Amino acid sequence: MAVVGAGITGLTAALSLARAGCDVVVLEADRIGGGVTGNTTAKLTPLHQLVYAELADRFDPATARSYAQANADAIRWMAATVVDEGIACDWRSQRAYTYAQTAEGVDRVRREVRAAVEAGLDATFETDTPLPWAVAGAVSLPSEDGAELHPVRYVEGLVEAVERAGGRVFEHSRVLGANRLGAPRLRTERAEVSADRVVLASHMPLLDRGLWFTRLTAERSYGVAAPVTEPLNGMLISADGPTRSLRSHPYGDGELLLVGGEGHVTGEDDNTPARYEALEAFASARFGVEGFTHRWSAQDLRPADGIPYAGPLLPGLSGFWIAAGFRKWGLTNGTLAALIVADRLLGRPNPYAAAFDASRRTLRQSAGGVGRELVKDGRHLVGDWLRLPLRGTDALGRDEGRIVRVAGLPAAAYRDTNGELHLHNPACTHLGCRVAWNAAERSWDCPCHGSRFGVDGSVLQGPATRPLGSPLRGPHQSRKAPA
Ligand code: FES
Repeated sequence: MAVVGAGITGLTAALSLARAGCDVVVLEADRIGGGVTGNTTAKLTPLHQLVYAELADRFDPATARSYAQANADAIRWMAATVVDEGIACDWRSQRAYTYAQTAEGVDRVRREVRAAVEAGLDATFETDTPLPWAVAGAVSLPSEDGAELHPVRYVEGLVEAVERAGGRVFEHSRVLGANRLGAPRLRTERAEVSADRVVLASHMPLLDRGLWFTRLTAERSYGVAAPVTEPLNGMLISADGPTRSLRSHPYGDGELLLVGGEGHVTGEDDNTPARYEALEAFASARFGVEGFTHRWSAQDLRPADGIPYAGPLLPGLSGFWIAAGFRKWGLTNGTLAALIVADRLLGRPNPYAAAFDASRRTLRQSAGGVGRELVKDGRHLVGDWLRLPLRGTDALGRDEGRIVRVAGLPAAAYRDTNGELHLHNPACTHLGCRVAWNAAERSWDCPCHGSRFGVDGSVLQGPATRPLGSPLRGPHQSRKAPA
């Protein structure tokens, strides 16, 4: 078996398969846990903001129940794995809250309490929370049902467990392609890997089979951290906008307050540094913190019908399997999707397989999400290219990136801190949408399906597998800025 991606999803699948005696190889494009897993706020809870009212409305109470119980089981599996494998990851049981500060928010929170209870969770309505300000109301789950941890230490523990079980994990092994017919073969820069089955656990699948790009929307979100003296004693997320996700984590002799939020569709924000500033302003105003020590961002995939996908990439295509679309709750949704895929590959029954099946027919429930994605992609694929940039490279300051006009054609231009200009063809090498500059991460991000490229054009994140090309005119090169 081969697994693509060494985040929590890939490593959980790999461990399950290796424990069952399978010969498992994990291929990671970058570093273990270096993608979304290492950049999550790492809250383990089945309370995903207001998901149960949403799922009960969109589907039915039984589906909401499957989502709740699958997440609860995933947390129990993780807790047992931490003990069984001796993983030191700062695991701390913790109460979860979704809090509201408006009358409308409280109504939604009350509905969520009812829907979560109907889904089998021990949810309660609370007015007291660990926050240092009054809230109008919150839905809460007890600490027995949730936990927080250090996500990188957890996945490093999974790697050791995979290797103890006989599996092998390779970093810096980006999969560049796969064969379309016959038994799966994966091509990396240095090797070709043959496998009877492949689990794609690297978010947007790199294989363009099954129109996955219409069913998943790539979104970025941001986090900041600042030292505090006391733990927050809760994992919280706001019910009202803008979303604020909060917890604390042990740090030296004290704690770090983690604040997340400011999500947006990848490639659709032209002032991403302001996202960090908004989170820091919120934390300073609400918690009185200063001296922020960390900033980070991550990219998640939102599934069209609201439920992650776990199963064969295409019905009847047994070689490639997918686990993706975790709606920003990847530590639990990623774990449960991996466990479903592993069970199905091993021929074991899994009570949640049908609800999360990647081939499920949810046309009515998916229609809104698929429609929005198609409109968005069309807007970018056609509209962006019709808008010719007016400016050339002369006005580009140091450490600035922008789509500019070079010889009448658009080019992705970045002038680094030394004044050197880096020019690339702005056409995403996946399906040709025009990339946009992300100043917060110094990257070129594709608004269609979330591929990301470095200032040197290299692939940071798929589904693209090839670097940005040369500018439309002239060779692919860096040029010194004019004096
Ligand atoms: Fe699909 Fe860029 S990621 S066109």
